[in-house]
Amino acid sequence: MEALKCVLFFLTVANWCESANILYVVPFTSKSHYIMLKPIGLELARRGHNVTVITGHRDPNPPPNYRQVMVDEKEIWDVIGGRPNVFDMAQTSTEEFHYNILWKGGLAFMEVVLDSKEVKAFLAEDNKFDLVINEQFYQESLNVLAHKYNAPLALVTTFGNCMRHNILVRNPLQLSTVISEFLPLEDPTSFYGRLRNLYFTVYEYIYWRYWYMNEQERFVKKYIKGLPEPVPSLYDLQRNASLMLMNSHFSFDTPAAYLPNVVEIGGSHLIRSNTTLPADLQKVLDNAKNGAVYLNFGSNVRSAEMPEDKKNAIINVFRKLKHTVLWKWEDDHFKNKPDNLIIRKWMPQKEILAHPNVKVFISHGGLIGTQEATYNGVPLIGIPIYGDQFNNLLQAQSFGYAKILQYNDINEENLYKLLHEVLTNDSYAKNAKEMSRRFQDRPMSPLDTAMYWIEYVIRNNGAHYWKNPALELSWIAAYMIDVYLFIFGVTLLFLYVVAKVVSIVLSAFSGKKTKKQKTKRS
Ligand SMILES: *[C@@H]1O[C@H](CO)[C@@H](O)[C@H](O)[C@H]1NC(C)=O
Ligand SMILES: *[C@@H]1O[C@H](CO)[C@@H](O)[C@H](O)[C@H]1NC(C)=O
Ligand SMILES: *[C@@H]1O[C@H](CO)[C@@H](O)[C@H](O)[C@H]1NC(C)=O
Ligand SMILES: *[C@@H]1O[C@H](CO)[C@@H](O)[C@H](O)[C@H]1NC(C)=O
Repeated sequence: MEALKCVLFFLTVANWCESANILYVVPFTSKSHYIMLKPIGLELARRGHNVTVITGHRDPNPPPNYRQVMVDEKEIWDVIGGRPNVFDMAQTSTEEFHYNILWKGGLAFMEVVLDSKEVKAFLAEDNKFDLVINEQFYQESLNVLAHKYNAPLALVTTFGNCMRHNILVRNPLQLSTVISEFLPLEDPTSFYGRLRNLYFTVYEYIYWRYWYMNEQERFVKKYIKGLPEPVPSLYDLQRNASLMLMNSHFSFDTPAAYLPNVVEIGGSHLIRSNTTLPADLQKVLDNAKNGAVYLNFGSNVRSAEMPEDKKNAIINVFRKLKHTVLWKWEDDHFKNKPDNLIIRKWMPQKEILAHPNVKVFISHGGLIGTQEATYNGVPLIGIPIYGDQFNNLLQAQSFGYAKILQYNDINEENLYKLLHEVLTNDSYAKNAKEMSRRFQDRPMSPLDTAMYWIEYVIRNNGAHYWKNPALELSWIAAYMIDVYLFIFGVTLLFLYVVAKVVSIVLSAFSGKKTKKQKTKRS
């Protein structure tokens, strides 16, 4: 009995975390990011922490210990000079995508955040925080808030492993398998794939580190006043992060070696789902006796902007199906709508994918949607448009529950063939179910995992001891360059000495010979 009490006491102490003040910095307004990030903030509040969130999405019914500091309402597209037709991005190179959208867009958006009225007022207040959590996605200036409040820094990512996530915390980067998240490679581990990945990684690193990060530093000087001196560089602040929560899971993403402070929480937004379908859609799906096909190109891609020929091809294919079709369609008009097609401006995706009658999800392959399909065991037909979409779909295709249809290849024949294949060959549904099982087979739910390690960092004042000790070394020492150079030098010296000795011996030997020969002749 005493022993049991002891164990119980130990368990409570080990999990104990006093209510803390947490600054949760997730200003990026893209809906898909916020879908993943919001449950973390709310769950921290539910656990009794005081959470201050810097956000672009106001929660209408926040708990009392959840304070919202609003970023000026601007879509990322407004900031970079208008919303492009996202379908045009299907033709953009990864380099162009980084320069024009991610870097320039990230910087422009950062300035909107720092210049927001509420954010400025908040930064001028006298606050204390026990932890700063920042999204790791082109908003590096805000890492300086950890320094401002003298609090440990945790990072949370909305996508999985990549070059920056590795070098940040000096996690060993295995370039042969860790492909840049936005680089579409048909065969990533082939010689060409690895060469392209190395080239892109170096390109990205140089631009990111020596141009982009300097711009972020400029914003810190311009907008964040009264920081305690000396102010560390943003690069050093990032590297000193106590925790990185990554939106990935080895069952779906490439398995990799991670430091203890790099934790996979992929699917954290999925587990404690408690909403139900709206009554009308529930009825539609319950009545879909031949099954249902669901099409949604995500929050940034607007189906209505699709070129006519491609749109008509899709509509004609749907007309041929016995299935009920749901399509997220943002316009009021829809010419020649087939009878089996239901359109809505917004679709409760998680709940739709959870319905047993949904047989296939036609998706652009965004990570959140792909995770939702994986979690619910729904096969995919993927039409990647930009960003990480191709790589997410390639991964799903390699597990046998997805088929990729390249945007340029959309026509009636190709789409019908793929749909028919996925709907009639049950290997896709079987593989999807198996993936769903693997994705959920974990010791703790991903949201609880995130909570555990966030509270761990708070409990242990930043847990400096669990960071990679190589962070204290120069990069030359960390990558053993000095030792390799030394061994290389010693080897060269040794070979030189050997060569010298051999040549002396040889010449001495041949010298004797010639002398002998000479004496013989004379
Ligand atoms: C959380 O906020 C409440 C109300 O402002 C305050 O009373 C409490 O002390 C705060 N908790 C911590 C850990 O600072
Ligand atoms: C889920 O919803 C039901 C009612 O619809 C409620 O009773 C229950 O507490 C909710 N569970 C969670 C975890 O929010
Ligand atoms: C179903 O698809 C799998 C994977 O592509 C293939 O191996 C199998 O032969 C197909 N089955 C039928 C009946 O076509
Ligand atoms: C690094 O983080 C620790 C807390 O984990 C903190 O004590 C230290 O001051 C930080 N160092 C720098 C250079 O930011």
